[in-house]
Amino acid sequence: MNRIFAPLFSCALGFATAGLPAAETIWLDALDLTAMRQGWGRPQVNRSVTERPLTIAGQPYARGVGTHATSTYRLRLNRGSENFTANVGVDDAAGGSGSVVFQVIADGKRVFNSGTMKRGQAAKPVNVDLRGVKTLQLLVTDGGDGLNHDHANWANAQFSCSGARPAPHVIPSEAPYLLTPQPGPVPRLNGPVVYGARPGHPFLHRIPAQGTRPMTFAVRNLPATLKLDPLTGIITGTTPPRGEYALTFTARNSAGQASRAFKLVSGDTLSLTPQLGWNHWYAHYNRITAAMMREAADIMIRTGMADVGYDYVNIDDCWMNAEADARRKPDAQRIGPFRDAHGRLLSNAHFPDMKGLADYIHARGLKAGLYTSPGPKTCAGFAGTYQHEAQDARLFAEWGFDFLKYDWCSYGGVVPKPTPLEEMQRPYRLMGDLLRQQPRDMVFNLCQYGMGDVWKWGAEVGGHSWRTAGDLGFELDRIFEVALKNCEHRDWQKPGAWNDPDYIQIGYIGQARGEGLPEPCGLTPTEQYSFMSLWALMASPLFFSGDLSRIDEFTLNVLCNPEVIAVNQDPLGQCARVVRLGEEAFLLIKDLADGTKAIGLCNSGETSLSVSAKWSEAGLGGTQAVRDVWQHRDLGKFATEFKAEVRRRGVVLVKVGTPRRT
Ligand code: GLA
Repeated sequence: MNRIFAPLFSCALGFATAGLPAAETIWLDALDLTAMRQGWGRPQVNRSVTERPLTIAGQPYARGVGTHATSTYRLRLNRGSENFTANVGVDDAAGGSGSVVFQVIADGKRVFNSGTMKRGQAAKPVNVDLRGVKTLQLLVTDGGDGLNHDHANWANAQFSCSGARPAPHVIPSEAPYLLTPQPGPVPRLNGPVVYGARPGHPFLHRIPAQGTRPMTFAVRNLPATLKLDPLTGIITGTTPPRGEYALTFTARNSAGQASRAFKLVSGDTLSLTPQLGWNHWYAHYNRITAAMMREAADIMIRTGMADVGYDYVNIDDCWMNAEADARRKPDAQRIGPFRDAHGRLLSNAHFPDMKGLADYIHARGLKAGLYTSPGPKTCAGFAGTYQHEAQDARLFAEWGFDFLKYDWCSYGGVVPKPTPLEEMQRPYRLMGDLLRQQPRDMVFNLCQYGMGDVWKWGAEVGGHSWRTAGDLGFELDRIFEVALKNCEHRDWQKPGAWNDPDYIQIGYIGQARGEGLPEPCGLTPTEQYSFMSLWALMASPLFFSGDLSRIDEFTLNVLCNPEVIAVNQDPLGQCARVVRLGEEAFLLIKDLADGTKAIGLCNSGETSLSVSAKWSEAGLGGTQAVRDVWQHRDLGKFATEFKAEVRRRGVVLVKVGTPRRT
């Protein structure tokens, strides 16, 4: 029998050596764990996340904390701790093939990394020196294979303290503040300046423009196959023959007018700039209905989101039927046969008319997106596309959808393990080919959480974007870290082929696994602005995934800054490169098509920091003009660098240089 690791005293005083204060043992399980964030369940004291005794590879532990990846716990040590020790591993009661990585981060520096650990593997000892350390983070990430079964134990975890006791880091509260100036009355044209579409296919583009309504629109050099509605700015028709078309959009109202060039590229490549839109998942999960989708389209128009370029209205999981399932409990309206007698996929009773829904969205000049899985079932247990690929691709095109998210989910159950690269690619290649054969443009979004380095082959199998990691909802407090990881794949990104670090989850959002109605997200206002700045600098697809029906002035202010969106939509399509300045400060530098650079002065730390962007780091020489992108303000000319005080987990986003005249 294994001996149970048990402390003799719950708070043991260490022996004082000559002249040194006695060290005190503070158990991790004795701290307030409410600030520990985790991907599933709640942190457990002296128990695993499923509330059983803590055991790792047969070894029981009397004390410790049971958590679940992705788990973060931030502590203030204030230089009071000497060291931290623990035995870490996956709990024996975890089913399946969960794998996790334990990390300890002291003042922004990683001081322990367990490497990937699986169930049955002996616990690894942690022993880190914490002398002089102010802040600590205990982190458990998924082992790169998603979160399932990632039951992680910090067993026997304790601090040895001689000064201040460790205390959970409380995120300072911050009042919302508005950075984006109110749009003026004069028309301002927004959105992409280059746009790809396939010849002979139906064409739809709503010219995004801010300014007082009514407004009228005109387009110079509009190909004869296209038609403009001058009152709405919606262009419809058939994409002209292969080639490049230099159009000029003009918008007029009682206050003035604006014109802007727009290049239409009729060819093979869609999504020449990152997609902009809304996706229902993180707000509504399995509560989504067609009525809510219609309402979402209306809100995008009414709030002005569409006037800065958001145009995809995307349904995620749960629009099809599910089987009755005691555990997941889908509502009765979502239970039913997956397909009819001819194998045709059925939408559930909340979605009685899929074509009608797509038409409704199109009538507003917006585009409609849909979701399925290559597996027999989706991640939420609804009907998948397995063995009906051609039929479903035809159906989605027939209904009039413009975008497909293809989510791996249960496909893992129909491939050999370990899964060779070719098998990982197979379902995406198949669907990519099928979508290309449809008589309409359908953007293809791969969702398989980054397996097999998808960024290296996503474009080759027909994808226009691909998720580079697991669900961001599980690690929302780590947007800086997620962004830095995503930037590692920057070389694989180009127009028509985008790395996708997942949706913008701000404003009102639900819990990451579908529990709970939307509530205000846990990010501070500054972090919410940072979210947009980082995603703009990475040229990531921008899908807001919060509750549109509760969108407020602040969230709109974060989402709808046309200059920030212009950084995201820049035609070069470059993901910023990272210049590390220290443990917590870094620059993100993105070349823009007009010869200027967008630079993010980033602070991933817990206190405000002075960050400086040196022209030499950015490949610039001589005096440079600097513009504050969020506030639309020229800040003046700077000889060698631009320096700013950057708030806790903040980004100061500037544009540097003088635009080249075209
Ligand atoms: C996975 C995806 C999410 C969402 C859900 C739906 O978790 O990564 O983005 O689509 O499935 O079940």
